[in-house]
Amino acid sequence: MRALIVAAVVGITGAAAVAVWAGGKEDAPPALTVLGVPVDAEMIDQGADLYAENCASCHGADLEGQPDWRRRLENGRMPAPPHDEAGHTWHHADQQLFDITKNGLASVVPGYQSDMPVFDGILTDAEITAILGYIKSTWPERERDYQAEITSKNEEGS
Ligand code: HEC
Repeated sequence: MRALIVAAVVGITGAAAVAVWAGGKEDAPPALTVLGVPVDAEMIDQGADLYAENCASCHGADLEGQPDWRRRLENGRMPAPPHDEAGHTWHHADQQLFDITKNGLASVVPGYQSDMPVFDGILTDAEITAILGYIKSTWPERERDYQAEITSKNEEGS
């Protein structure tokens, strides 16, 4: 009797271990990266804090952007767009998002006048990468996949 119970317990544990192993292999989400750096939980936490301190005042605490963000302001400039899936941040490659944040929009579109600040000298490259990691981690799969595609095309130089 005792042997039977032991055998049953070992059997169940063994089956569970196999299920965990197989599940882990099949369900692993596609790895999220920023400029090739893997986005892990620590980076997301750090990025969320830095986002709240440096970006949320314009881009919104929940990445929702400024109200009526598609309409030009009286000064002729554009309001801050959302960084969630409602905006167009996910239409840009990693390198472009990094350059816009570090060096401003004019670094990507020469002569462009914008209220988006330049973060060079305020945030380190690693901090900017962490913020982008946090933003990207909030996107649904469709936007993530689309942006990954744009990023890999950008890396090929097209
Ligand atoms: C003072 C307000 C302000 C702050 C703070 C700010 N932004 Fe912006 N940001 C803007 C505005 C305004 C635009 C739109 C610029 C335009 O089109 O003229 C913008 C645009 C952008 C874009 C381009 C988005 C796109 O969809 O094309 C990125 C990326 C961006 N910001 C990232 C950041 C990050 C990251 C932070 C924090 C480190 C930040 N911004 C902080 C105002 C701000």
